[in-house]
Amino acid sequence: MGHPAAVWDTRAAIAVSKDWNGIDQVMLRNPQGASAKVSLHGGQVTSWRNDRGEELLFTSSKAIFKPPKAMRGGIPICFPQFGNCGSLEQHGFARNKLWTIDEDPPPLHSNDSHGKSFIDLLLKPSEEDLKCWPHSFEFRLRVSLAADGNLTMISRIRNINGKPFSFSFAYHTYLSVSDISEVRIEGLETLDFLDNLGQRERFTEQGDAITFESEVDRVYLGTPNCIAVLDHERKRTYVIRKDGLPDVVVWNPWEKKSKSMVDLGDEEYKQMLCVDGAAIEKPIALKPGEEWTGRVQLAVVPSSFCSEDLDPQ
Ligand code: BG6
Repeated sequence: MGHPAAVWDTRAAIAVSKDWNGIDQVMLRNPQGASAKVSLHGGQVTSWRNDRGEELLFTSSKAIFKPPKAMRGGIPICFPQFGNCGSLEQHGFARNKLWTIDEDPPPLHSNDSHGKSFIDLLLKPSEEDLKCWPHSFEFRLRVSLAADGNLTMISRIRNINGKPFSFSFAYHTYLSVSDISEVRIEGLETLDFLDNLGQRERFTEQGDAITFESEVDRVYLGTPNCIAVLDHERKRTYVIRKDGLPDVVVWNPWEKKSKSMVDLGDEEYKQMLCVDGAAIEKPIALKPGEEWTGRVQLAVVPSSFCSEDLDPQ
């Protein structure tokens, strides 16, 4: 695509190259040919492909690949807030900032490194960030691709402030689906949710699995650590495992809202579904020196997979 030649680290199957804006992006590959791409703009995963080269994340054909805004698709990170309140920008500033490669991250469990291609990124607040959110933090993000093609994101947020602070968080995950009408989510049945289409009123999910026939913008509360998104037409199921993230955002803008968004095609809502591991209802509170970890693992399995296979809570 006209980018300068990537510099490959053959031992770890990592390559760093520049994107159109001259911003570093990191390509991870596994020996089977699966790949993931992470931009230092926002620490955003912009691509995740299986070993057949099929893209598993949605990116809008109208996405704007130009800072300072996050592009529409992939996995932008919402921090230090999800949503739009107070003086902070919608979904916080982390997705709009330039991250750095963390050369010397504090160690993670060996399971988080062994047999994986991974990259560690770091975000620290700028002077400008501190003006609208006056809390010093270190945000370490590991993105890893396993031998089986699973994609894992581990966020570690440390309070290096003299005072406590709290935040909300989401991995705003744009899954690529064949047709939204053919998709259902299992694992959220009977749970309470906050409806962002109204005044965040609380409702209880009634039906069986969740299906889609109009705009949906909800925060499901107290969710199990494993949920599944089944795409009948593609005979593909996304399995989302998470830890430290009690809530799940489900978002599809449907027709009317899509038409009002400059960076989303009018019909593209049919090919996307956001299902985010998140911590929203009860903000995460950190005392000085404390650290929080939130992780999500995305896997894709054939549709013969059934919901009984989901991990028990
Ligand atoms: C969702 C929110 O998660 O993100 C929606 O619940 C919002 O209300 C959507 O429209 C997209 O947000 P943004 O800022 O990326 O356009």
